[in-house]
Amino acid sequence: MANLISIAVLGSGNGSNFESIANAVESGMLSARIACVISDVPDAFILERARRRNIPARHIDCAPFKTKLDGAAEREAVSYMQRHGADTVALAGFMRIVKGGLLAAYPNRIVNIHPSLLPAFPGLESWKQALEYGAKWTGCTVHFVDGGMDTGPIILQRAVPILDDDTTESLHARIQEQEHAAYPQALQWLAEGRLQVQGRRVLVRA
Ligand code: GAR
Repeated sequence: MANLISIAVLGSGNGSNFESIANAVESGMLSARIACVISDVPDAFILERARRRNIPARHIDCAPFKTKLDGAAEREAVSYMQRHGADTVALAGFMRIVKGGLLAAYPNRIVNIHPSLLPAFPGLESWKQALEYGAKWTGCTVHFVDGGMDTGPIILQRAVPILDDDTTESLHARIQEQEHAAYPQALQWLAEGRLQVQGRRVLVRA
């Protein structure tokens, strides 16, 4: 039996992963409600997508840092998420490292999606890194967030072959197709209470 989880989605850009989560909620495949959406980018399309669905959405200014949130932004984010009843945080293209107060407020309840088969190609534009490296396979990873950069225990991965005629765009598009299936699936396992973290390993109980 799945509990209804309340997800805060954090993103910096387009928000296609947010859309796939929202669609999964709508179709009943994911036992969740989306509590709110936060972006560190004022005109990120993810905010617009949320508003179109009448989901509370706001920009939080994370200045002066480029890669993390300062203490004030962190407090603002936590208070906004708590006010909207979020018990789970899904990073969906959120281009900042989550640390400190945010991690402490949601222990073992923050997940991220990353566009490679971690631990290969952490960081930015991982599809480009994989293509330039000459890898034959890449994919996507859903993992718990632990304060490092793309380092937390892995919940789920889906592989994508790299084709001879791939461009960065075509490869990222195929990775995103897999992301849009993987993220709702991993969140549903979380809602069903099936994920058991043992050190670095995440066991998915039947
Ligand atoms: C996704 O491919 C996600 O995996 C990636 O950003 C994209 C966001 O797309 N995240 C990272 O690279 C994080 N290191 P979206 O805004 O359309 O969901």
